[in-house]
Amino acid sequence: MRLRGKIALITGAGGDLGRGMALRFAEEGAKVMVNDKNLGKAQETVDLVTKQGGVAAPNGADLTKAGEVKEMVGQVIKEWEQLDILVNNAGDIRDALLTKMSDEDWDFVVDLNLKASFLCARAVAPHMIERGYGKIVNISSMAYKGNIGQTNYVAAKAGVVGLTQALGLELARYGINVNCVAPGLIDTPKARTLDEKVLDILVKKTPMKRMGEIIDIANPVLFLVSDESKYITRQTIHVSGGMEGF
Ligand SMILES: NC(=O)c1ccc[n+]([C@@H]2O[C@H](COP(=O)([O-])OP(=O)(O)OC[C@H]3O[C@@H](n4cnc5c(N)ncnc54)[C@H](O)[C@@H]3O)[C@@H](O)[C@H]2O)c1
Repeated sequence: MRLRGKIALITGAGGDLGRGMALRFAEEGAKVMVNDKNLGKAQETVDLVTKQGGVAAPNGADLTKAGEVKEMVGQVIKEWEQLDILVNNAGDIRDALLTKMSDEDWDFVVDLNLKASFLCARAVAPHMIERGYGKIVNISSMAYKGNIGQTNYVAAKAGVVGLTQALGLELARYGINVNCVAPGLIDTPKARTLDEKVLDILVKKTPMKRMGEIIDIANPVLFLVSDESKYITRQTIHVSGGMEGF
């Protein structure tokens, strides 16, 4: 029960990786606020947590809207009186080669993957600073090192690594750890929508020669939000089977 008595907010936790984290955190004793713009998916995660004996609640805030983010954080603190852990997990792609990439594709991806993480961190910071305690984990991607057809996603995910460095520096003195996890290729339904040939190439580029599992991400994130890692901050852990770039 490494998270006994802790309150966690995980964004985009109706999705595959966030759901894995919600289940794992709840197993370790945390109460989890499951955010997802798709409230039906958030509720599914809540039901799964409840089924395994944990405590969770759904939240449907759109993370690209500062007002909704503020309200979401207020809801957690009102309901559970504190907020110890924030995982900025929500993210998505809109791939296109540079000359074909629209302004909308750029803005959508940067707003969701990068700006939303800033908005959430800004909303939780006053409360965490006041309590002198907090854990923030940002989810990047190994794509942050560069990938063809993903200028928007690569820039946003590299931004997430930079945001981690800057937030960590600003918040360290208040007892707040800020770290980042960069997943490689993880076996999720979304990854399975990739062309089989592309998947094959990516697996071949992975020294461990396999895709990661959802639990392979949930466990390092759990470590980073627990007090086992209390002297670690501003770090980006590559959880990629040794793959260092696409
Ligand atoms: N799956 C992988 O192989 C992989 C690899 C590297 C990095 N990542 C990163 O991990 C994170 C989670 O990925 P996933 O595969 O679980 O994705 P997913 O699509 O399964 O889940 C993302 C969730 O975010 C929600 N969401 C989208 N826009 C939102 C908004 N504006 N407000 C609130 N919620 C919103 C979606 O409804 C969805 O349920 C993402 O940041 C992704 O970039 C995933």
